[in-house]
Amino acid sequence: MRISFATAPANPDSGARVVLAAKGELIGAATALDAELSGAVARAVAAARFDGEAASVVELLGHGSMRVLVVGLGEPGKIDAAGWEKAGAAIVAKLLTSGETAVSVDFAGVGADAEAAAHLAHGAVLRAYRFDKYRTTMKDKAKPTLTSLTIVNAPAGSDTAFAPLAAIAAGVMLTRDLVSEPANVIYPESFVERARVLADAGISIDVLDEAAMRRLGMGALLGVSLGSEREARMLVMRWNGGGDAKPVVLVGKGVTFDTGGISLKPPAGMEDMKWDMGGAGAVTGAMLALAGRKAKANVIGVCGLVENMPDGKAQRPGDVVTSMSGQTIEVINTDAEGRLVLCDAIWWAQEEFAPEVVVDLATLTGAIIISLGHEFGGIFANDDGLAAQLIAAGAATGDKLWRMPLDEPYDKLIDSQIADMKNVGPREGGPITAAKFIQRFVKPGVKWAHLDIAGMVWASKDGALWAKGATGYGVRLLDRFIADNFEAK
Ligand code: BES
Ligand code: MN
Ligand code: ZN
Repeated sequence: MRISFATAPANPDSGARVVLAAKGELIGAATALDAELSGAVARAVAAARFDGEAASVVELLGHGSMRVLVVGLGEPGKIDAAGWEKAGAAIVAKLLTSGETAVSVDFAGVGADAEAAAHLAHGAVLRAYRFDKYRTTMKDKAKPTLTSLTIVNAPAGSDTAFAPLAAIAAGVMLTRDLVSEPANVIYPESFVERARVLADAGISIDVLDEAAMRRLGMGALLGVSLGSEREARMLVMRWNGGGDAKPVVLVGKGVTFDTGGISLKPPAGMEDMKWDMGGAGAVTGAMLALAGRKAKANVIGVCGLVENMPDGKAQRPGDVVTSMSGQTIEVINTDAEGRLVLCDAIWWAQEEFAPEVVVDLATLTGAIIISLGHEFGGIFANDDGLAAQLIAAGAATGDKLWRMPLDEPYDKLIDSQIADMKNVGPREGGPITAAKFIQRFVKPGVKWAHLDIAGMVWASKDGALWAKGATGYGVRLLDRFIADNFEAK
């Protein structure tokens, strides 16, 4: 979606026109257009029982073939950034495949500022994303047509306000691409190749191959990879925008396909496990967002990339592996592989970068979806301040988080008979024992949060800011977390 901001009024020949309404009343350009069309806007609105509810839309025909949308903003004075984004997204949802190629949104007399215009545009861009690259027989009518959105009579400074949001959207879309691609296309090495575009944004990229990880003793991560023809990789992305401040480390679970391994998953729905790299996808997209808007912070993204396959060479239930930390793990269930990947990635990142803060993101457990559905990711944290920062960033961006417990008694549930720990606890509290497992690899003094985002990466229904499919969850959350807590204002 091409976005532009014009201080000029709408050109009546330039495609669909959007005018705005507050709860109960037409405002600004909507009033003017209503007069121009002899009351047709008011009649259409009344006929549709439209009352200016946030992100509701009424469509009518203006002069000639001009398509007019009246878009509601809700209670005047109550609309926030998220509300503007939803309004922009609602416009796109309505027009994306309508045949219109351009739309103008008229801010005349709306009394909104540059941030409002920028967030409306942001919502439009996010909602316009599609992943159609493998569809070769799509009917013309089903294809997107809308390619540009212009805000006319735009508040001064809208362009400047939009620039960082455009960078964030680019990060979200990279994440969605990575998550949407099937596992025959995205596997550890090809994930790394995709991430190389981040170098153009000023991110330095390092990659550990299997030989390097073997030398480092990453027996847990490499054990998961044993059954796969695809070699594992550790991807490291560094953004240095914060002088000599200690870095924040973001770690992503990047299981590019999770069959379960020898503890094979049932066939129904297994295709979903192409997005078991959603944590790594979010970390990668967040790095692009941070670099794109030149964030004044030092952030390092680390992605443990492996494919979990059953094979004659695959690890078996009962195998004992030695992690890089030296701690041994009895692999009771080869399908609890994410924690095996994360424990080595997190340990290595702490040794390498001595961070004060580590945040990991992972599609770690099906049980977090049973707990929280698709509305919140679960957050586990060893520090209340860090938890509060992440929860606040989630509330502000819509990538919501709900705190889960890490109380000490859960820890013994993963003690093993023959090794230091086992990789699964009982069925009860599955997301919690998964988090407790990871916590055993967090060094003393490090503030750590674990985000179990299994319910958030993929949507089976359209949402406000996405078409069904990859949501890009986590990018806006991480970007905001860094912006609000690690960047000098
Ligand atoms: N990748 C899955 C978790 C998952 C399940 C994500 C469904 C998204 C949707 C993870 O590797 C896994 O298999 N977890 C097991 C853990 C169990 C064996 C303790 C699970 O959730 O069943
Ligand atoms: Mn699994
Ligand atoms: Zn998995």
